[in-house]
Amino acid sequence: MTSLHNRHIKPLIFANLTGDNWGLQDYVKRGGYESLKRILSEGMTPDQVIAEVKASTLRGRGGAGFPSGLKWSFMPKNYEGQKYLVCNSDEGEPGTFKDRDILRYNPHSVIEGMTIAAYAMGVTVGYNYIRGEIFGEYQRFEEALEQARAAGFLGDNILGSSHSFQLHAFHGYGAYICGEETALLESIEGKKGQPRFKPPFPASYGLFGKPTTINNTETFAAVPFIFQVGAEAYAGLGKPNNGGTKIFSVSGDVTNPGNYEIPLGTPFATLLELAGGVRDGKKLKAVIPGGSSVPVVRGDVMMATDMDYDSVAKAGSMLGSGAVIVMDETRCMVKSLLRLSYFYFEESCGQCTPCREGTGWLYRMVQRIENGQGRAEDLDMLNSIADNIQGRTICALGDAAAMPVRAMIQQFREEFVYHIEHKHCLVPAYV
Ligand SMILES: Cc1cc2nc3c(=O)[nH]c(=O)nc-3n(C[C@H](O)[C@H](O)[C@H](O)COP(=O)(O)O)c2cc1C
Ligand code: SF4
Repeated sequence: MTSLHNRHIKPLIFANLTGDNWGLQDYVKRGGYESLKRILSEGMTPDQVIAEVKASTLRGRGGAGFPSGLKWSFMPKNYEGQKYLVCNSDEGEPGTFKDRDILRYNPHSVIEGMTIAAYAMGVTVGYNYIRGEIFGEYQRFEEALEQARAAGFLGDNILGSSHSFQLHAFHGYGAYICGEETALLESIEGKKGQPRFKPPFPASYGLFGKPTTINNTETFAAVPFIFQVGAEAYAGLGKPNNGGTKIFSVSGDVTNPGNYEIPLGTPFATLLELAGGVRDGKKLKAVIPGGSSVPVVRGDVMMATDMDYDSVAKAGSMLGSGAVIVMDETRCMVKSLLRLSYFYFEESCGQCTPCREGTGWLYRMVQRIENGQGRAEDLDMLNSIADNIQGRTICALGDAAAMPVRAMIQQFREEFVYHIEHKHCLVPAYV
């Protein structure tokens, strides 16, 4: 079982999980489905549910950190036709491995969260799009759905109320781009997983052209806890505008890689300590704080930064999906950037020219520097290519490819210059 550490804090989604208590009976023993029961039996209106989620200051855990209650309020209220709710369990961002653990160890929290969300937005049909490579989690989610249906927590007239919600698991197709919300919708529709132009946004033109709300797995999993502890208490767990707990997938050069659920706003230094510190007593060099798409931050800056959306933005990066990639003093930044650039080059869906061509240019130029054939003008050229990609594409994969390049060169320029001038690495381990 991946480590679900809770030495310093009390987690919510990962509280009291042993690895085999994922089923319905154990979830109910932990207070599961109480929030749904209360909402339906106490006659809370959909508007009141959305107001609570707004008050909790929950922000989307999939990457952009968009306020969830606000997103829910965009769903048209009086639309007469079919509306859809979609959970994004594609989890393709390099470094992120939290959603699969939620599906594996606490699938009912996602089902309950989605059922509450469906009630709040007047939706009767939902899908959970689960990454193609994680078949065991898909099967477990299917099993959890069966349990919830049999117990009356899903299906027609849930718990005797007028709320009906049919929720299905959808096995994804294993492409990173299918995690982008509109590519995901295309994929569910049986088409090639390529992002759509926005606007129109999914709230007006989503799945099968109908109003649709999409949230990340962790976002839905957090919802029952907002109603268990109360919106104010949930918000109070974090910092203003950054409410609740967040699961960080810590990987790289740490002693104990794993998932750590901590209140937003916890200092990075505490998270690093929870993960056992930098492996083998080495020095911290750099951190990618939110998955491979976000700018790298120098280690000393990260040590003075809190892990919440606003603080990480102030440090020049993004909290993203919460994948914290720790790099020690032996890591070569040119080699790291080469790995990242190759990923985006491979995963570009090819629809827009700046991304399709630009990601290839970025990759080949970084490869040239790594191979000792770099030229003095290459760094400016790399920045110029990144400038020509960022903000000029249909979806944010273009930005995700460009941002790491600019940040790596800005933060560790001396290493790139050394590679170009000496035709080998500055970092002793790689010379
Ligand atoms: C290339 C790309 C890949 C993405 N992959 C994921 C993903 O695997 N999981 C996810 O939840 N969001 C992913 N997103 C973000 C989604 O488009 C969307 O913003 C998110 O699912 C909304 O959920 P939230 O508001 O709960 O964060 C990706 C975005 C892009 C541009
Ligand atoms: S930015 Fe890249 S991945 Fe996104 S639509 Fe354009 S080509 Fe496809």
